[in-house]
Amino acid sequence: MADPGARPPVLKREIGLFGATALGIGAIIGSGIFIVTGIVAGIAGPAMIVSVIIAGIIAVFSAMSVAELSAFLPREGGTYVYAQKLISPFAGFIAGWIWIFSNIFVGAAVSLGFAQYFVTLFPAVPVKIIAVVICLVFISINYIGLKESVLFNNLLVTAKVLILLFFVAFGLGFFRPGNFVPLAPAGPVGVLSGAALIFFAYTGFARVTLMAEEVKDPEKTMPWSIYLALGISTGIYLLVSVVAVGLAGAPALAHSGSPLAAAIGITGSSGAVLVITLGAMIATASVLLTTIMGISRIVFSMARSQDLPPLLGRIHPRFSTPHYAVAITGACMIAALLLADLALVVAVGTFAMLVYYLIANIAALRLPREHLRYPPWVPVIGALSCIGLIAFLSPGSWVIGCIGLLIGGTWFFLRKKTS
Ligand code: ALA
Repeated sequence: MADPGARPPVLKREIGLFGATALGIGAIIGSGIFIVTGIVAGIAGPAMIVSVIIAGIIAVFSAMSVAELSAFLPREGGTYVYAQKLISPFAGFIAGWIWIFSNIFVGAAVSLGFAQYFVTLFPAVPVKIIAVVICLVFISINYIGLKESVLFNNLLVTAKVLILLFFVAFGLGFFRPGNFVPLAPAGPVGVLSGAALIFFAYTGFARVTLMAEEVKDPEKTMPWSIYLALGISTGIYLLVSVVAVGLAGAPALAHSGSPLAAAIGITGSSGAVLVITLGAMIATASVLLTTIMGISRIVFSMARSQDLPPLLGRIHPRFSTPHYAVAITGACMIAALLLADLALVVAVGTFAMLVYYLIANIAALRLPREHLRYPPWVPVIGALSCIGLIAFLSPGSWVIGCIGLLIGGTWFFLRKKTS
């Protein structure tokens, strides 16, 4: 990935199917599976497996809409661009705005996730201090400008996938079926609330659409890479959550800040605990890296289109990066992780991402007939299921998410009036 400021006028199409799929998996697998599973285990019990399945199915509908849109309009910017073209400039603006808002909370969540595993190695350091430090490190990397290569992302993705497969293979030998009884102590509401929260783990599947102009044969590659990234992540999530419950049981997962390390700890192997801890740190760090980069990319293009203050689109004379965009969004991330606890940060990030996918599904409904790949009930179910999941998130996340939407909406109309 080149940084936005250093982009040549015509982007080179260098990302193939493998790279595009790895970009998706890079953005998907992070705090969701390594941390949020613990919170969901506390809400849904062993039936968290059902929550994981429900959230995965819901993600597939939105992924189908995004895939359809990405083939119709393979331009950088994702739903910010699709909604502008197919719904209205306001809908496009809100999609871009809420994506930034969501990813500020995703960044905060993965920083906290990284820190929770880090303190299992160095317990004397407070979690929030580590979270701030890792956030600052990645903000600085993005500020200075990292010529992050697709190759580097591929390496991180391979490492995290292999480590999770190791968790499954090693943990299976210590599996206790008795841990699944009682299956759903909190009933269907617990399962659905768990599904709403674990949806966080699936977000990121549309990341490749932000860089559509760098993908080879985008009409084919993008839809396929979205399905592959989501399919591979879903398969891994299912295996990992079944094995995690089978190893430790839902209550132990719920009581740990680093649930997968706690689960593999049941095997008695400190080497395995170390591998999983390092895996969690690699996974969360890689999501953080692409999240800050993704945010600065969208902020930069929205500022360039005058949807955000032009200052945010300014390029650093020496580093050639949108340094104001990186610094301001980074500061918001640090504020979010300092002010809220992990469950709230995850819920707000998920709320905002569900609004983003809701807009994507509405945009897909407005695709010209000849560009439809799927029947209209696909985006209809996609949109309704996004609304349904929002209903099961915590009221605190609705309030913060709606404040975010309100600020965005107000800015849009004020800016229109003054321009
Ligand atoms: N899906 C990403 C994660 O789980 C945000 O970290």
